[in-house]
Amino acid sequence: MPEVTNDLMEKIVSFCKRRGFVFPAGEIYGGLSGAYSYGPYGVTLKNKIKQKWWDRFVSRRDEVYGLDGPIILPSRLWEASGHIGGFNDAMVDCKKCRKRWRADHLVEEATGQDLEGDLEALNKALPEIPCPSCGAKNWSEARFFNMMFKTEMNGVEGAVYLRPETAGAIFAEFKNVVDVMRPKLPFGIAQIGKAFRNEIIVGNFIFRTREFEQMELEYFIDSEKDWQPIFDALLEEQEHFFIDDLGIDSKKMRRYEHPKEKLSHYSRKTIDLEYDMPFGGFKELCGLAHRGDFDLKQHSEFSNQKLEYFEATTNRHVTPHVLEPSFGLDRCFLVTLLSAYQEENVSETETRVVLKLPADLAPVTIAIFPLLKNKPELVGVAREIYENLRSKFSCEFDDNGNVGKRYRRQDEIGTPFCVTVDFDSLEDETVTVRDRDTMVQERIKISELEKYFLGRLKK
Ligand code: GAP
Repeated sequence: MPEVTNDLMEKIVSFCKRRGFVFPAGEIYGGLSGAYSYGPYGVTLKNKIKQKWWDRFVSRRDEVYGLDGPIILPSRLWEASGHIGGFNDAMVDCKKCRKRWRADHLVEEATGQDLEGDLEALNKALPEIPCPSCGAKNWSEARFFNMMFKTEMNGVEGAVYLRPETAGAIFAEFKNVVDVMRPKLPFGIAQIGKAFRNEIIVGNFIFRTREFEQMELEYFIDSEKDWQPIFDALLEEQEHFFIDDLGIDSKKMRRYEHPKEKLSHYSRKTIDLEYDMPFGGFKELCGLAHRGDFDLKQHSEFSNQKLEYFEATTNRHVTPHVLEPSFGLDRCFLVTLLSAYQEENVSETETRVVLKLPADLAPVTIAIFPLLKNKPELVGVAREIYENLRSKFSCEFDDNGNVGKRYRRQDEIGTPFCVTVDFDSLEDETVTVRDRDTMVQERIKISELEKYFLGRLKK
């Protein structure tokens, strides 16, 4: 798979480094492929995305409970989930240039055929496909490679694994949550956290990495009731998250339903939400899978514990079915930037980069400047405003360079409002508030700033 192919992606990658959103990790040691650090503005944006997800899928729902499980869990759990035995991708080596590839991705990119998991078919198709790196058609046999990261732990016999998804801990704590919270079906358990997959090929910036974050909800439903309306409602909620919370253009998104023959035997339906990426077209952002009772039954069997739910009204013990909305946080972050990044001509000679992020997602909500850095009376008032507003909003104090440059810097990181304290402020106790998108400036009374911003942020 090509690394970064498109102009917009190149711009985003260099923007992210230049403005402190995402850095290639450990560059002073030569870096590590597919490893990234979120910088000062990036980590704030990422945290705000997480918070919006948590608000929508957990806090605003009475029937969903949060969880924060460990990265390393008993290995038996990953046997039960099928990850140790079957979490494999097919890899293949070019015998000429020695580059390693994911075999199904090579075939899909060249022919459009999805042969994931079918080694025989992949080995038949490969001889016709040139190596994207050197053009040779000289392949090794395609073979499966397990994607679990293995390590060891003091006091534990045998290998332990870094979790390949957050869902595992949710099933492991199903019984605890049911015993403590006594929920009624349907109910959900949600978790946000890191996941690790030893991917054969990483690339396209933070789209595919070996360490990433997931936001997952396991939604337990009564197997005897109609699941379709609940599935549809969850899928719509996933779309609302992208469109309403992250500001993604709905025209760039689509639903992709996995063909029946590709579904696991226990699954009734899986739909991915995809985004039209600048590299290679529509790519998966998140999925919604009907997983039947596979997980609870497997974990019951492997743990020798009853993972059931007792319904008092009907006096029944049931194994609920599960619907699983699963999101990659780093992909949410990437599409948020791709959607927000714009270059605008502001005059015949000047363009500006502006991140048109939803106001409540921007790393800095309000930037506060004194007109001149060397006038203590202006700096004092600006500092006082900054101290007052920072407990309510994400604020930044900036006195570097001239005001025009400060506006451009704040536009670039998506700051929706800039406040400038000038000499008039000392006379009439008003300041200039400048809007990122329209660049219109208005005078607002200092004493009314908090109310003004609360009003603007509600819209
Ligand atoms: N529990 C279900 C599950 O893990 P998945 O489709 O394998 O399903 C869910 O992963 C989401 O995690 C994907 O839709 C994607 O957004 C994200 N994801 C998966 N592998 C990733 C990787 N290597 N790098 C970044 N994000 C990834």
